[in-house]
Amino acid sequence: MHLPSSSRPRIAWAAATGAVLALTLTACGQDGGGGGDDAPLIGVILPDSASSDRWETADRKYLEAAFEAAGVDYDIQNAQGSREDFQTIADQMLTKGADVLVTVNLDSGTGKTVIEKAKSQGVATIDYDRLTEDGGADYYVSFDNEKVGVLQGEGLVSCLEGVANPLVAELNGSPTDNNATLFKAGYDSVLQPLYDAGTFTKGPDEWVPDWDNAQGGTLFEQMLTDTGTEVDGVLAANDGLAHAVITVLERNNLNGTVPVTGQDATIQGLQNILTGDQCMTVYKAIEQEANAAADLAVALANGEKPETDATVTDPVSGAEVASVLLEPVAITIENIQTVVDDGFADPAELCAGEYAALCTEHGIG
Ligand code: BGC
Repeated sequence: MHLPSSSRPRIAWAAATGAVLALTLTACGQDGGGGGDDAPLIGVILPDSASSDRWETADRKYLEAAFEAAGVDYDIQNAQGSREDFQTIADQMLTKGADVLVTVNLDSGTGKTVIEKAKSQGVATIDYDRLTEDGGADYYVSFDNEKVGVLQGEGLVSCLEGVANPLVAELNGSPTDNNATLFKAGYDSVLQPLYDAGTFTKGPDEWVPDWDNAQGGTLFEQMLTDTGTEVDGVLAANDGLAHAVITVLERNNLNGTVPVTGQDATIQGLQNILTGDQCMTVYKAIEQEANAAADLAVALANGEKPETDATVTDPVSGAEVASVLLEPVAITIENIQTVVDDGFADPAELCAGEYAALCTEHGIG
């Protein structure tokens, strides 16, 4: 990680002109930005690169583009799942004079420690994607996460059409991620009434610590054993967990017959939809999320107090957090093209090799 040793003075900054921007853009690295010496510095801490492909393939890319366009300095680091590194990175960013910290917490406890440290130094904070419970961040930028779960629940129900009294296994996200709780509230709002009515049967229901995909696979293997391989459908909370489930199903010759949900519209998730092994994913336009966070961060660095359309109630402190909440979209084999048209999935990557014929068959490209 490249962190300059000298600390930077915090200076009020006016937006760079297009001309300045054009001149400086070429000189920017990850730790750079186009704003010159007195441009604000925005620090971003991503959580890991294992729980979902999104953080390194989408969030980093779109955040970089937004900061470059705004002509600010930025430093985007990834804690790689380490709570200790998360805090060390935050300390280093504060030492070198970050004006705003944008963080995706690994759990609310460590997230809160960082936010409080930033606040005590007059540094503005934005919860990116995950709300830090009782954290007190200035802003929260995410999607309507309960809606994400509703789309997953509805997607599974539609993929199970025609199956009499299906037994559903639920593989939830991390118990320390507020989003995972919201996703579950969403899909259970669809599934619980069906369990209650006896139309569906509730099977095993487990949380996956830190969204660890490998652990998700192990948990699902156990679920399959416990039910005598009688699972008819799997509510997997994201594409990474879905892939772990599909790998286990493959070993049991059940892939393609047991529908599995997902989230993030990763290349792997979309390819699993192409092959028929995954029934749906949820597309979250991360470019919009990154742009919203960057806009807020730049305004905060300029000493402004930006207005937002929404607020979210912190489930622990009860505080109303000013928020930007974006709309998720359900993706099935019918509308994968949406994700390509939006520039989110590269058709060359999606339709490479063995997937080429499937893309052609489904008119994707
Ligand atoms: C994000 C998901 C992601 C998961 C695992 C959640 O907080 O909203 O998009 O798949 O974390 O990284």
